[in-house]
Amino acid sequence: MNRYITTKSVYLDYNASTPVDPDVLDAMRPFFEKHFGNPSSTHRYGIIAKKAVEDARSQVASLLSCKSEEIIFTSGGTEANNFAIKGVARALRHKGKHIITSQIEHSAVLDVCGFLEKNGFEITYLPVDKDGLVNVSDVKKAIRPDTILISIMHANNEVGTIQPVKEIAALARECGIVMHTDAAQSIGKISANVPELGVDLLSIAGHKMYAPKGIGVLYVRKSAVLDRFHHGAGQEMGLRAGTENVPGIVGLGQACKIAKNSLENNMKHMKKMRDMLYEGLKKRVENIKLNGHAEKRVPNTLNLSFKGLIANRILDEIGLDIAASPGAACHSDGVDISHVLKAMGVHGDWAKGTLRFSTGRMTTGDEIDKAIEVISVAVNKERNSQS
Ligand SMILES: Cc1ncc(COP(=O)(O)O)c(C=O)c1O
Repeated sequence: MNRYITTKSVYLDYNASTPVDPDVLDAMRPFFEKHFGNPSSTHRYGIIAKKAVEDARSQVASLLSCKSEEIIFTSGGTEANNFAIKGVARALRHKGKHIITSQIEHSAVLDVCGFLEKNGFEITYLPVDKDGLVNVSDVKKAIRPDTILISIMHANNEVGTIQPVKEIAALARECGIVMHTDAAQSIGKISANVPELGVDLLSIAGHKMYAPKGIGVLYVRKSAVLDRFHHGAGQEMGLRAGTENVPGIVGLGQACKIAKNSLENNMKHMKKMRDMLYEGLKKRVENIKLNGHAEKRVPNTLNLSFKGLIANRILDEIGLDIAASPGAACHSDGVDISHVLKAMGVHGDWAKGTLRFSTGRMTTGDEIDKAIEVISVAVNKERNSQS
């Protein structure tokens, strides 16, 4: 029996959020109950909490192959991105006011860049190709003498395309520019080793990797210069003040340990489930198109367009049985296509009928069989009702 899913609905939205792994929950529980001390306290309760935070820090560092003191705990991926981008902008504004990012970043990057634009910074939003890939030579062309930061996501949340972060980071380093990557959707799905990637800053979101919501990490390379995010009592190397979320931190540490130990198996399993879904749907549904790179893609993400259909109508049909995300949002005055599909140039006829399915460690073959049946029946029914 699947220990994790408590409703009958098949959960295929692991890119939106994951369940908390039972071992993560077990690791966290004592820190709500017995070990509730403040890590800044000098008595026994504080010492136990402090040790737990530092143990978790080294578990995260071990997953990323970096030093423990380079791990700063945050409240999640959004905060980590805000911290990275605003932190560099504030610290280096005397050097320049130009930042490079891409058109397909999560709003936790795009909205921060929009805010900085209103405050005197200039942002270059790089385009992507039809597979959702940023071209390294476009990055090179965009670099100016006053460029202070490049922020390109590791893997895209909607289509799963993996960006050439290593190549872009090498270019940034050559030019003395700080490099940040939003790895919220890649950690636990592919290897994310910071020395290999060569980035200065990297964001993690706990609830995308079987830890709870409200916890995340910003990896800050020792040599990186950035302004502190919260002012206060000096926690987190003086960069992010505030009493630590000890249970969340312990949970994230445990989730990183699990992710490290089981990465290969998890990758294989998520890919097998994802490909089974795709093959099954292709056999039973016509006019279906995969969005995202065929190979350079995280192993769990399947973004599909159903030509001529409206995503929300399909979701209305399958919603009780299948949990997935739309790639286009329906409003009274039309359908808004996602900024990612727009940037990839997906034609409206296809884009409006786009759904994202994302598998996880707990996805089973029986769930995929059910999903193939329910989705194909719904899509064919919608199409028949149109003809
Ligand atoms: C790529 C990416 N970055 C950042 C975030 C935001 O993370 P959080 O929900 O932890 O704030 C998400 C969440 O969907 C994401 O997919």
